[in-house]
Amino acid sequence: MSGGERDPITGHMTTGHEWNGIRELNTPVPRAVWFFLITAFLFSLFWWVLMPAWPLGHTYTKGLLGIDQRQVVKDDLRRATENAPPWRSEVAGREYADIQNDPVLMQQVRRHGAVLFGDNCAGCHGQGGTGGPGFPALAAGAWLWGGAPEVLAETLRVGINSDHPDTRVSQMPAFGRDQLLGRADILAVIAHVRSLSGTGSGSSAGSELFAANCAACHGEDAKGMVETGAPNLTDATWIYGGNEQVLFTTLFYGRQGHMPRWDQRLSDLDRKVLALYVADLAAGAREGGGHADH
Ligand code: HEC
Ligand code: HEC
Repeated sequence: MSGGERDPITGHMTTGHEWNGIRELNTPVPRAVWFFLITAFLFSLFWWVLMPAWPLGHTYTKGLLGIDQRQVVKDDLRRATENAPPWRSEVAGREYADIQNDPVLMQQVRRHGAVLFGDNCAGCHGQGGTGGPGFPALAAGAWLWGGAPEVLAETLRVGINSDHPDTRVSQMPAFGRDQLLGRADILAVIAHVRSLSGTGSGSSAGSELFAANCAACHGEDAKGMVETGAPNLTDATWIYGGNEQVLFTTLFYGRQGHMPRWDQRLSDLDRKVLALYVADLAAGAREGGGHADH
């Protein structure tokens, strides 16, 4: 380039560009750069021959090694299905009762059910299904809708008061707020309800109020009805609580618990495992005798 002059220190020519007294030396491209450029170019030629490279309309150059990511994924998937643990297809294919009678299969159900339950259900129903205020203690086996695994699976599929078209629907009316019963009557029927589970004594007035206002849903014997999803009021297991304060809130304002539908979030198989797991929790508690009678 014209205008260059020799740099007295390095002996190289300069390019003639100058920035505030700093001049650029006109040195050749370093060898290392040439080396990497040429190596990269040779490698790309080599790789292009080996691997799929150029699109050719409907097809493409397949390369000598012919690796196809689509095929890789297909192979992986096929291997995954082949290696799926056999208990999964056993649980999917067999009847509930049949599975319950198979101790080895039930071990898998307990193991995988516990994980599914911990991930999806324990947030509301408590670890191990012990329940909490507003959330039924599934392990206690005091069912609203029934505890057979087929029934539990249906409850899981559609939910309770959920947005599923087939949802189970239930409601405890708001006797106070909607002025179905006066305060004195509510207190009398509460005393009756408490007497049913052995706490305090009721009155004949309370008993009549119960027959007239509550029996249609909770049953003549107050033991609950799976047709209405109304709980047993004679046992010591409560969803919301059995003390006077909580009972008053329940009767005055009513209750309508919401259980999510799981048809969109869990597979058929996972719901089947969970139904078996929950039935087993309750059965285990009954056999152990130590069930949640609190
Ligand atoms: C967002 C809270 C919530 C989550 C999460 C939840 N549930 Fe529920 N579940 C409820 C409520 C509330 C009820 C009671 C509804 C009522 O009072 O009528 C219920 C009721 C049930 C019932 C009915 C019991 C009976 O007596 O008939 C079953 C079975 C059940 N849940 C199982 C599960 C399982 C299994 C999971 C996990 C996949 C789960 N629930 C996750 C809130 C929840
Ligand atoms: C239309 C049906 C219906 C009628 C009538 C009804 N209940 Fe209920 N009751 C329910 C349902 C359903 C639940 C469960 C609500 C829930 O969990 O969301 C319930 C829940 C309760 C609970 C809560 C139990 C717990 O475990 O915490 C009490 C207590 C109760 N009802 C008492 C009564 C009394 C007393 C009467 C009469 C004055 C009555 N119910 C009338 C349907 C009814």
